[in-house]
Amino acid sequence: MATADQFKALVRSHADGDDGHFYSVAMQVAARAAKQGHSKFAQELRELVDSAKAASEEGGRKLRPIPVTQPRGDLAGLLAVSYPDQRLGDLVVDEKVRASLERVLSEQRQQDRLMEYGFEPVRSLLFIGPPGTGKTMSASVLAGELHLPLFLIRLESLITKFMGETSAKLRLVFDAVEDTRGVYFFDEVDALAGDRSSANDVGEIRRVLNSFLQFLEQHRSSSILIAATNHPQLLDRAIFRRFGLVIDYTMPTQELARVVIRNRLASLNTRGLNWKRIDASTPGLSHAELTIACEQAAKQTILAKEPRVTTDVLVAALDERRHSNID
Ligand SMILES: Nc1ncnc2c1ncn2[C@@H]1O[C@H](COP(=O)(O)OP(=O)(O)OP(=O)(O)O)[C@@H](O)[C@H]1O
Ligand SMILES: [Mg+2]
Repeated sequence: MATADQFKALVRSHADGDDGHFYSVAMQVAARAAKQGHSKFAQELRELVDSAKAASEEGGRKLRPIPVTQPRGDLAGLLAVSYPDQRLGDLVVDEKVRASLERVLSEQRQQDRLMEYGFEPVRSLLFIGPPGTGKTMSASVLAGELHLPLFLIRLESLITKFMGETSAKLRLVFDAVEDTRGVYFFDEVDALAGDRSSANDVGEIRRVLNSFLQFLEQHRSSSILIAATNHPQLLDRAIFRRFGLVIDYTMPTQELARVVIRNRLASLNTRGLNWKRIDASTPGLSHAELTIACEQAAKQTILAKEPRVTTDVLVAALDERRHSNID
């Protein structure tokens, strides 16, 4: 029925408190049992998992520090809130990025100690790097690790949606930052850079940029402010100086690409993969694109009822992503 590896995975995920993984292994055990003809056991196990999941979601909702953090009224259109449960271990990044994020976590977790000596933890971060390399995911990881809500603010849509009243709307967001401790993620800050905007927006965008800079400078609340951009060259130099820490995200190395693939395919049998051939198909693909290719290969394998992911299927999925990149 369950293999030795599955038993070990169950115990490990239980010990880590990783419910998601625990349930997914249990479902794998059920799938395997069904295949071996133990259909009654498989059915009972699936039902157990379903009801346990439903119960823990119910409990989880009760524990959450809402409703205060659920944006209301005007704020509802400006902020999107979520409660991520992602962990630093889910993120595949180079040592430098990992060390920076660990530093943020450690300063946040021990902020009382720092403040006793008159120091402040780092509270404003700028994430720079190409699409799909983990900037948004890192914001989720910081929120998940610190058990804080994550608030997303897309500046581009804030500006276009509230043309003429953006500064007032931004003020509402800044008030929320002061009132409700959380991780506030300002995506696409390059929208404030001016260069890309049409002539009649310039005045307004300038004003928004100025109030954003001023706010960054004055920010003393216990919330964490993160801004992200794919286009650092468009950013006003004045912006860089306002952040406590700038983190540079890069495309994955060959070694890290392998880790992304392994992680995403962890629930499937991948024995016998030809990594040399796979390596030849990963250059130029971001973490996000690698993830999508793996998901495609995994689904294809599952639906074809193949016992394992083959190199051919995976390479075809990777190549398809690379070609859609070039087009
Ligand atoms: N460093 C990473 N490690 C593991 N998975 C990653 C990483 N980066 C991206 N991913 C995967 O790709 C998805 C999209 O990545 P994410 O949204 O964090 O990219 P981004 O850098 O914010 O891109 P964009 O600039 O387009 O907003 C993630 O949800 C995750 O599944
Ligand atoms: Mg993003």
